[in-house]
Amino acid sequence: MRRLGSFGPRVSAVSLGAMSISGTYGPSTEAETMRLFSRAVELGVNHFDTSDIYGLGRSEELIGRYLRESRADIVVSTKAGIRYMPVTGERRVDNSPAHLRNALEQSLKRLGRDHVELFYIQRREAARPIEEVMETLSALKKEGKIGAIGLSEVSPETLREANRLTRVSAVQSEYSLWTRDAERSLIAACDECRAAFVAFSPLGRGMLTGHVLDPATFSKGDFRLNNPRFQEPAYSQNRAAMAVFEKLCERLGKSPVEVAIAWVLSAGEHVITIPGTRTAEHLEVNVAAADFRLTQNQRAEIAAAFPDGFPWGDRFSSAQAIGIEPTV
Ligand SMILES: NC(=O)c1ccc[n+]([C@@H]2O[C@H](COP(=O)([O-])OP(=O)(O)OC[C@H]3O[C@@H](n4cnc5c(N)ncnc54)[C@H](OP(=O)(O)O)[C@@H]3O)[C@@H](O)[C@H]2O)c1
Repeated sequence: MRRLGSFGPRVSAVSLGAMSISGTYGPSTEAETMRLFSRAVELGVNHFDTSDIYGLGRSEELIGRYLRESRADIVVSTKAGIRYMPVTGERRVDNSPAHLRNALEQSLKRLGRDHVELFYIQRREAARPIEEVMETLSALKKEGKIGAIGLSEVSPETLREANRLTRVSAVQSEYSLWTRDAERSLIAACDECRAAFVAFSPLGRGMLTGHVLDPATFSKGDFRLNNPRFQEPAYSQNRAAMAVFEKLCERLGKSPVEVAIAWVLSAGEHVITIPGTRTAEHLEVNVAAADFRLTQNQRAEIAAAFPDGFPWGDRFSSAQAIGIEPTV
């Protein structure tokens, strides 16, 4: 267990990312998802991460159904700030007070809750003053609709600026052995602001699990079909690097999932991670990985073998990178 921000609730260090249950990396059934949630609770996972954009509300609806039926006590984090335009299929960042309020109301309806414990701006709208955004979030907090404020994919500067205005409890950004950018300053900036750093995609969207992926079999709509790291020639180069990673794990006597999750959690005591999966079986493996701690020597050895920037291809295509701020 770790604290979700210095003043936040204690949550499982390995929490559950609920994006995959809405089709990001292939299909899943509602029954499979209910089984996943029940197993999560049995294993002590008490924090689910979602967003209004995951399956355009589907992920929140499924969590809502589970919470209604089980009455489980879960810390729910959700996000808003990316709008999907159904006519053009375009996504746009919108941090306006009207949009954030309306999006949160819709999320609460789907979740069947009158509040969420943590509410993130999923992307910062560059042209909108941060003062206005934090004012909107503070008002939602005062009204009891959100327990704490989070920011996602922001720079250390935005975090510091925002935190000077109102407490930021968590920053969420991509962090794993194959996306190490946050180590340069964002993880330290979170510590300095007493915010949790919530590492998303800790398993490299499936690459760091030891399972050999075949992009030719990805289903229609799979996020990775348009992701540079999964396009040739990058994919084959990245797969070759993964074979080296798997050998290193073998030498440590640990599975790739154990090492990948231990890597993320050893970046700081304020780090929480939210691996995503559709199945109870994979969840069990991910949660069990929290028991393994890397020594400093092991971390140094892994860092040297897989330096920041080693993968081929950017972590997002230009269309996927909408609203991303640099982590340095
Ligand atoms: N703030 C943001 O903008 C943002 C962006 C992306 C993600 N997120 C959050 O971060 C969470 C996690 O990120 P992610 O889902 O992109 O990536 P991830 O956790 O790195 O990887 C998920 C992939 O790994 C596979 N996997 C998981 N556990 C496995 C295991 N034990 N063995 C083999 N394969 C396994 C999953 O397939 P199976 O389903 O088959 O297990 C899925 O394809 C999301 O659910 C979401 O909550 C936030």
